[in-house]
Amino acid sequence: MARILLTGGAGYIASHTAVALVERGHHVVLLDNFANSERDVPDRLRRLTGKLFPVIEADIRDVKAVTDAMQAFPVDGVIHFAALKAVGESEADPLLYYDMNIVGTIRLFEAMQQANVRRLVFSSSATVYGQPDHSPILEDAPTRVNNIYGRTKLVMEDLIRDLARTGKLLSAASLRYFNPVGAHPSAMIGETPSGVPNNLMPYITQVATGERPHLNVFGNDYDTPDGTGVRDYIHVMDLAHAHALAVEHIIAQDVSLTVNLGTGVGISVLELVHAFERATGRKIPLNIAPRRPGDVTSYYANPAMAEAILGWKAKLNVDDMCRDAWRWQAKRAGINDV
Ligand code: NAD
Ligand code: UD1
Repeated sequence: MARILLTGGAGYIASHTAVALVERGHHVVLLDNFANSERDVPDRLRRLTGKLFPVIEADIRDVKAVTDAMQAFPVDGVIHFAALKAVGESEADPLLYYDMNIVGTIRLFEAMQQANVRRLVFSSSATVYGQPDHSPILEDAPTRVNNIYGRTKLVMEDLIRDLARTGKLLSAASLRYFNPVGAHPSAMIGETPSGVPNNLMPYITQVATGERPHLNVFGNDYDTPDGTGVRDYIHVMDLAHAHALAVEHIIAQDVSLTVNLGTGVGISVLELVHAFERATGRKIPLNIAPRRPGDVTSYYANPAMAEAILGWKAKLNVDDMCRDAWRWQAKRAGINDV
């Protein structure tokens, strides 16, 4: 049983990970500045799990506040989720992304050194592969920078490798997520994009509630079976479980790793829309729109390394993802017949 601090602990993936960790008997401390999360998330987690979660409201760039938090709640390791993640915003405001993601991570690691916390799990992204030469993608595929958000993930991965190589971290796991979607089946926690969603699944669910008239399909002339972009969607509950296994691994062993977290299945935009319609009985009106600048054609993971090292494999399928994403969004929209 370990005590783990989650930076960005009230966010989408962290809140689901908090549930997975307590279900495996661990203690969880949440640290967040609530820049992109709702303040009642810790309370919802308490109702969902029956456990109390200490909450530290702080910015990861505040070394003193984060050091104090780790001294008040001595932890065995940190899962570092806190970051900004909007690709378009990163291109519009590079300094903001360098500051929040890279400077923020350096400040966090300074606090970890001061508190002598030397085990880390890091939220990386499949965006580090850019447009890959082929899929399924293995971890040794070349990394490429597509945008500033992606660059910040690569810089942070390198920083973590250097800290592990020089013994400043005893062990670290960089987890390269493919496309997280869905929500806890209770619909008590989920994703809350602010404004118009950038990502496909939240957009689909908002069309289904009637908040948006139709889905813009960004390009149907890609070199894919139906012409629309292909991605590896992964249920956030599967992703959360992988974090619990990764934490247990890096605490048990002084070894570092970089692993893909995906299902290994590529799904096109139209396939996801049809799966959603099947799983929910809701019709999604479509509008074929131009390609979105910066989008890649197709990518999906080879998740074999995660299975070999962590004993992890995604269990939930696209129907589960659609059903749970819909349940969450419908509840927020006050729709009760789901
Ligand atoms: P999220 O925005 O829901 O969660 C991030 C949390 O960090 C939020 O609660 C936010 O308030 C907090 N935060 C941001 N800056 C902070 C700061 N300076 N100090 C303290 N807290 C701060 O995002 P998410 O989707 O849960 O993503 C979590 C991590 O996973 C991020 O690092 C993201 O880049 C990475 N990731 C996400 C996806 C995805 O599709 N959601 C894909 C790949 C990687
Ligand atoms: C985006 C980010 C990526 C991030 C990932 C997961 C970009 C360029 N990339 O990737 O860095 O790691 O989210 O959070 O933003 N689509 C539509 N209509 C929509 C929205 C999306 O057709 O309204 C299509 C896209 O063109 C793409 C697919 O749906 O083919 C998935 O898009 P999205 O959910 O935004 O994820 P990514 O593009 O993979």
